[in-house]
Amino acid sequence: MRDSRFHTVIEPFRIHSIEPVRLISRSERQARLDEAGWNLFALHGDDVLIDLLTDSGTGALSNEQWAAIQRGNEGYAGSPSWFRFRDAVHELFPFKHVIPTHQGRAAEKILFGVVGGSGKVIPNNTHFDTTRAHVEFSGAEGVDLVVPEGLDPRNRHPFKGNVDIPALSRLLASRAEDVPLVMVTITNNSGGGQPVSLANLRAVRELCDEYDKPLFLDACRFAENAWFIKTREPGYVNVAVADIVREMAALADGMTMSAKKDPLANIGGWLAMNDDALASECRNLAILTEGFPTYGGLAGRDLDAIAVGLRESVDEDYLRYRIASTAYLGEGLERAGVPVVVPFGGHAIFIDARELLPHLPALQYPGHALACALYVEGGIRSCEIGTVMFGMGADGVERPAPMDLVRLAIPRRTYTHNHLDYVIEVVTYVARNSDQIAGLEIVEQPERLRHFSARFAPLRKVETAA
Ligand code: F0G
Repeated sequence: MRDSRFHTVIEPFRIHSIEPVRLISRSERQARLDEAGWNLFALHGDDVLIDLLTDSGTGALSNEQWAAIQRGNEGYAGSPSWFRFRDAVHELFPFKHVIPTHQGRAAEKILFGVVGGSGKVIPNNTHFDTTRAHVEFSGAEGVDLVVPEGLDPRNRHPFKGNVDIPALSRLLASRAEDVPLVMVTITNNSGGGQPVSLANLRAVRELCDEYDKPLFLDACRFAENAWFIKTREPGYVNVAVADIVREMAALADGMTMSAKKDPLANIGGWLAMNDDALASECRNLAILTEGFPTYGGLAGRDLDAIAVGLRESVDEDYLRYRIASTAYLGEGLERAGVPVVVPFGGHAIFIDARELLPHLPALQYPGHALACALYVEGGIRSCEIGTVMFGMGADGVERPAPMDLVRLAIPRRTYTHNHLDYVIEVVTYVARNSDQIAGLEIVEQPERLRHFSARFAPLRKVETAA
């Protein structure tokens, strides 16, 4: 509990085991990046000093999670670990059917394998890259309907992840029969980690009722979303985060989940729903790719780690620290004049690369160029969320994404504020010299999810000496 006399938000834990990190020189990093085809996903992790590529599966487990791992039961069917997992999911998300999967995208593949298909359209506030890829892989169309404020990095609207209700209403009025379900992503990762309000979820629910459509949550960052509701939405300041989560769940008919985010696990996910017939179809598909429905591609010990992580994820001392440390990074960058998406998201700070690098057109990938510069100068690995990730249309035509952002995602319970001070110093240095950053071209790319494996080349020679 907080003592109101003191204001420093501390890490609500002691460090219990450490993993050394290694600093290589700037010229070595430039060489590693060249070898990696200027794709940060292709680096060896040992060549990265501070890894802010993702908050997914990269967090530190608690002592209680390690203890739970020892309790893991590896029975193929009906393992006690499964029941502990299912009960922990039900405490927050009481959907009738819970189908474990090895991670979030497996849940997406199963769900859209059943409800997707050509001619279908799936609305969402903003589809995450894997969600969009699975929607499109099924032959369906993914439509992003976030509120206009969500596309303006400077707008301080408290719930920039909200769904544009008039736009959803228009889509349902014109194509209701093509919409198998409505999705809402909490928090809206691709839009800057921005939350969705309960008022907005209720409005989506009303439209779903009007057109008799199920509402599914992509709930990866549900606890951070609930914390933002508690601290920003009128009437919720005295409501427990766990109760806010249950209120969000009660508005939905089902969910997809990656346990690698807010549930504080290194692997895992699930698909949940109330509809018996849909669950039966999904379970049959899950058996094909994930395994028997009481383990779903996971070891029993993973199920136990998730069960404990889920309860820790709604601990309010943890969430206060989590959101405060993300804001600490954002405030440091804002003070240094770096254009960042505001208000700050829950799991990451997003730099507006389009604004920072006005000399680079979107099709020279300013976000990706900035992410490469952060690696070369400071050994920091980040992730472009922009035209590389979203610029290639399903029609094979490349267009600028709505925004070109660089995401500094913060692994949970992993880095201290000193690490974040270093990140602030490096980003500030790179921002002050940003006119030196060259654009990039793509020299090789796959058909889908190109950001993971495309190879790039700088459009002018880059200085390699330190
Ligand atoms: N939905 C959202 C909103 C996500 O952020 C992710 C993953 C997924 C679904 C897929 O889950 O990775 O377990 O298969 N996001 C990670 C990220 C990869 O870096 O933001 P997964």
